[in-house]
Amino acid sequence: MKQIKFYYKNVTADIIGEKHGITEAQFKDLAQTTIPLITQLNQERKSGQTPYRDLPFNEQIGQKVKDLAGQLKDNCENLVILGIGGSALGNIALQTALNPYMYNLDSNQRTGPRLFVFDNVDPAQLGSFLKWIGDKLDKTIFNVISKSGRTAETASLFMVIRKLLLDTLGLDGLKNQVVATTDANQGTLRKITDETGFRCLEVPDGVGGRFSVLSAVGLFSAAMCGIDIDALLAGARDMDERVSCEDFYKNPAAINAAINYHYYNRDKKNSVIMPYSYALKDLSDWYRQIWAESLGKTKALDGSDVHVGPTPIKALGTTDQHSQVQLYREGPNDKLFTFLQVENFDTDIKIGPAPECAPELSFLAGAEMANLLNSEKKATEYALLKDKRPCLTVLFDKVNAYTVGQFIYLYEVTTSFAGALFGINTYDQPAVELGKDATFALMGRDGYQDLAEQIKPLTTIDEDYLI
Ligand code: PA5
Repeated sequence: MKQIKFYYKNVTADIIGEKHGITEAQFKDLAQTTIPLITQLNQERKSGQTPYRDLPFNEQIGQKVKDLAGQLKDNCENLVILGIGGSALGNIALQTALNPYMYNLDSNQRTGPRLFVFDNVDPAQLGSFLKWIGDKLDKTIFNVISKSGRTAETASLFMVIRKLLLDTLGLDGLKNQVVATTDANQGTLRKITDETGFRCLEVPDGVGGRFSVLSAVGLFSAAMCGIDIDALLAGARDMDERVSCEDFYKNPAAINAAINYHYYNRDKKNSVIMPYSYALKDLSDWYRQIWAESLGKTKALDGSDVHVGPTPIKALGTTDQHSQVQLYREGPNDKLFTFLQVENFDTDIKIGPAPECAPELSFLAGAEMANLLNSEKKATEYALLKDKRPCLTVLFDKVNAYTVGQFIYLYEVTTSFAGALFGINTYDQPAVELGKDATFALMGRDGYQDLAEQIKPLTTIDEDYLI
């Protein structure tokens, strides 16, 4: 089975010059700074401080997920995820990457239930779904995922569905159709789960939402929808060996983080990820979250104010060539680009002949579409390099569970390295918590009256400024 590869020549000074490229001496400095962090991360991992690193090795989680999926699958035509952030983005990314584009619509292309993920509280979106699902509830499993159970979005989605199930199928129906994924011991969803008697899976201790896709959080929907979770975890395990390697130049996570860190400190604070593969497109959303929530921090570990954080940006090749590349080439040189490139597509399509009246299209006739897609990636990269824009590429031999597992783990550990380089706490998200509290205040939750008063003057429309 092939490994994904990390290609970094196109950030070197040899390719884009000394002003924007990384010189050999700078690489040496980066290696010197990063090597002690490889040892540090390996030690933190051994002493149990980063439990997400152990998930691919935990056979019990995979077995429990497969057993539950095995029990439920036969009578399940629709699987609905209720969750947000780290409790949804991994599920979406795995489904887009590893199941066909027409999965939900074409039963011939489907190896499990249809999958719907609700990670918003938009009544128009949910309302349309409720009109459709109403008579199919007994063939639908709702997987409510929340580590804390206090997240207003997930709680409200769950409360809508709970009422619907109770009204339609009664208490037994509610119990049968819900799987809760939550903390093993504490939190609101744990309390509800224990009281109602839902089937349940666990968000492992010490693993934050954005690092949880390789736990039951992401694995259950994947297993239900026919994704080979053993191969996914095998990919992550194989990547674990590479990202633990003490040789900086052989460790793709260390070198990726170091390159990102280098550019952040040299006025390239934006990091664009651009897959040339529709299947990989939602991994960009997953990446955006892990990068932004982990690295965007006010305080350094020593307590000083730093306000660091590269801004992750997603783009899709070729689509965004016709939307963003004008800016990427001629706008400010303030971005580092990471392409995701696939060498072999499972399906390829030959382009038909050119109409006789349009011989100028004959260069496309008979060509394979995958060749066109990869040529466009190379063309975009070439154009960016001409304008001295640094480019990285992650090369996938194929998109499959094994390579996607590698990619996820690579970027999880890259995030840990980047956090260590920035000297911040990678694993908390205090700014997200304030937003959650402010929502409680605005929705009238007891104990949040003072916060509600503080919010009012800032969020009430002042007519003097309304035109
Ligand atoms: O990564 C994180 O920790 C967050 O994005 C959470 O996943 C998100 O806020 C949802 O939290 P919870 O699972 O507690 O509902």
